[in-house]
Amino acid sequence: MRAAYVVESEKVEIKDINVPALKDDEVLIKVKTVGVCGSDLHLFKGTHAFRKPPAVLGHEVAGDIIEVGKNVTNFKIGDRVTVEPHLGCGECEFCKQDLVNLCTSKKAPGTPAWIGTFVEYFNAPEKTVYKINDKISYEMGTLIEPLAVAVHAIDRITVAEKDTLAILGSGTIGLLALVAAREAGYKNIICTDTQEFNLEMALKQGATLALNPLKEDVVAKVKDFTGGRGVDVALIAADSKVIVDQASAMVRKRGEVGIIAMITEKIPVYTYSFVFNEQTLFGAMTYETKDFIKATDMINDGLDLSDFLTQKLPLEETQKALDVLNEKKENVVKVIVEVSK
Ligand SMILES: NC(=O)c1ccc[n+]([C@@H]2O[C@H](COP(=O)([O-])OP(=O)(O)OC[C@H]3O[C@@H](n4cnc5c(N)ncnc54)[C@H](O)[C@@H]3O)[C@@H](O)[C@H]2O)c1
Ligand SMILES: [Zn+2]
Ligand SMILES: [Zn+2]
Repeated sequence: MRAAYVVESEKVEIKDINVPALKDDEVLIKVKTVGVCGSDLHLFKGTHAFRKPPAVLGHEVAGDIIEVGKNVTNFKIGDRVTVEPHLGCGECEFCKQDLVNLCTSKKAPGTPAWIGTFVEYFNAPEKTVYKINDKISYEMGTLIEPLAVAVHAIDRITVAEKDTLAILGSGTIGLLALVAAREAGYKNIICTDTQEFNLEMALKQGATLALNPLKEDVVAKVKDFTGGRGVDVALIAADSKVIVDQASAMVRKRGEVGIIAMITEKIPVYTYSFVFNEQTLFGAMTYETKDFIKATDMINDGLDLSDFLTQKLPLEETQKALDVLNEKKENVVKVIVEVSK
């Protein structure tokens, strides 16, 4: 089968490899669509904290089941599915609390233990597989995974008020956090981005304000909007050296700053702002299974996010798909690689 390998930094080659051998508890998926994720860019650019090329990237997938292992009971050939792309050891203290995202030895696609999804055929254990409705496109199916990231981030917030929320960065993750926050009942959602197109998208999806840090003082604008008080919570979905300070400066006393972005280099943080204002800083790592189920239900119930699907390229052009998201020369939210029609 064909597989798109990142062979060195910013270089993709299509290779012919064997179809993975199916285990008894696995299904084999003929891949239809794969989403390019901001987190795929870290290995692609060579800035990943510990992973290096060569690797097959990709973890957002939708397709059809074409084979089932002999112990599989919930799926049959022909089912349209997506995959919750991580697998816990089942033994550690985190797995025992259903926190697969924190498992100390979890498996994820794109590592030696499990191939990435930029391939023609992808194997997945039955327990990681979810059906997508016949009415839902494969492209929308691939958005379930990043939507689960957003659902989890909103779920990690412990501030009770749902009055004001800021989301810094309006790429796929930031925009989906906006959608998840809107669905969770947040009243005023302020989004930032350095690209005008992404700000327009945020407004279209119901953001109250959309601010560009390259053109305006976003902290002052947020303070203005909140009558000097600051927002209840700020979520960080973009990578910048000043973004944690910016978030803290726009959050109210006893408010929260949540980091979704994978900022893999060390950045300076003005901790006194957190102390003086008694703010809490938290991280949000992928999702728990309950978040993935919620995201699957939201999409299967007809939540329409098709505006976010900005580019579609064939597997042969995976290089271009990664370049498009990396370079942001075009208007881009979610780039889809169409592996088969
Ligand atoms: N925690 C997790 O589990 C998880 C999962 C997926 C992605 N991520 C991370 O979330 C981040 C966003 O992912 P994505 O797929 O949306 O990526 P993306 O590249 O689509 O989006 C990033 C957005 O941030 C904008 N931006 C850049 N600098 C900015 C700044 N200074 N202020 C405001 N906006 C700015 C960009 O224009 C872009 O629209 C990445 O760091 C990614 O690694 C984390
Ligand atoms: Zn992703
Ligand atoms: Zn574990």
